[in-house]
Amino acid sequence: MAKNIAVIGMQFGDEGKGKIIDFLAEDADVIARFNGGNNAGHTLKVNDKETILHLIPSGILHKGKINIIGNGLVVDPNVLMEEIENLRNNGVKVTPDNLIVSENAHIILEKHIREDKEKNKHLGTTARGIGPAYTDKAARSGVRVIDYINKNKSPLNPFVKNTTLMINSLIDKNKKVLFEGAQGTLLDIDHGTYPYVTSSNATVGGVCTGLGIGPKKVDSVLGVAKAYTSRVGSGPFPTELKDRTGEKIREIGKEFGSTTGRPRRIGWFDALMCKYSGMVNGTDSIVLTKLDVLSGLEQIKICVGYKHNTKIIKDFTTNVGILENSEPVYEELNGWMEDISDVKKFDELPQNAQKYVKRIEELLEVPVCIVSVGPERNQTLILKKEFLFDSKPSK
Ligand code: IMP
Repeated sequence: MAKNIAVIGMQFGDEGKGKIIDFLAEDADVIARFNGGNNAGHTLKVNDKETILHLIPSGILHKGKINIIGNGLVVDPNVLMEEIENLRNNGVKVTPDNLIVSENAHIILEKHIREDKEKNKHLGTTARGIGPAYTDKAARSGVRVIDYINKNKSPLNPFVKNTTLMINSLIDKNKKVLFEGAQGTLLDIDHGTYPYVTSSNATVGGVCTGLGIGPKKVDSVLGVAKAYTSRVGSGPFPTELKDRTGEKIREIGKEFGSTTGRPRRIGWFDALMCKYSGMVNGTDSIVLTKLDVLSGLEQIKICVGYKHNTKIIKDFTTNVGILENSEPVYEELNGWMEDISDVKKFDELPQNAQKYVKRIEELLEVPVCIVSVGPERNQTLILKKEFLFDSKPSK
């Protein structure tokens, strides 16, 4: 059993990490975000009620958990206060006891949002000021949360602490920590499809830099991958479907951006890409989400290679030129017609759905520990418990 778990996106974000974090948070003591800002959008559905969180960790909906916004984030104070108010209006308790913001996180200023809107259109950013805020951080001209609250009488003040000390002390006390990643591996500034990426590290290294902990404190790396692929914004996408099948998946999977409302681009599952993500993150196990969305398709394809000119490429590349000029090589599997959203056990899934999951596992050479068949907490099939938290309370 793992004590501390990192949840990392294996594709272009929107893999369904929010739901999985919310599901795992039940057995965690601490939920800590380590990268990004309000470019993220985690949609959680509990008891038919939908909550979208952009900045606050997804553990906030559980009572008695500590939620941390780490130093690796960029924080828009207005958005944060608005999110706190919204949650409170919906009866969720948010206090300086259950939400803590790092004094070393950086502030997104008005000028960053303006600049993002004006200069970064071609990248299809979320226009929330994320990139310009990180640019100022790297240029040593940024504003840290601590400096901001010292200069402004901000309602943020009571939430701000030294989260590095805090999280290390919680880990030392054997508390169970869930590290919540935003975006996905292919949007990582170092390991993604640069320049069509976000401006932080969405990969597992970001856990250490974005929270100030050592790598050995991460016991289990869960890679979250959707049973197909989606991408918002610009950039290469070899398995993109521009046909009726893509539209069908978009509609059934409700693939519209939770931050911007933009329709997401849709494509088949790309095994090369996810194998690469598994490598970069040292992924111990995979959470495969939205399998239910693929019900009703006669044939389902998995990309197992790229044809570039006359060559077949078997390893993923972040070379945008190659990705843009490659044809995917597919393996075709038979689909299933049954609605699987009420299935409670893996071996009760239709044979072809089981085969699809097993084939992904084989291609990625990483075991699948969870399959998600719907947005609700109870639509979650557990295949392997050893990568997850012990459900007993921590001492
Ligand atoms: P930025 O993070 O706003 O700078 O946007 C950079 C790229 O990352 C754009 O293609 C965005 O659409 C994408 N992006 C940023 N955050 C998310 C996310 O949480 N999910 C999916 N895509 C995202």
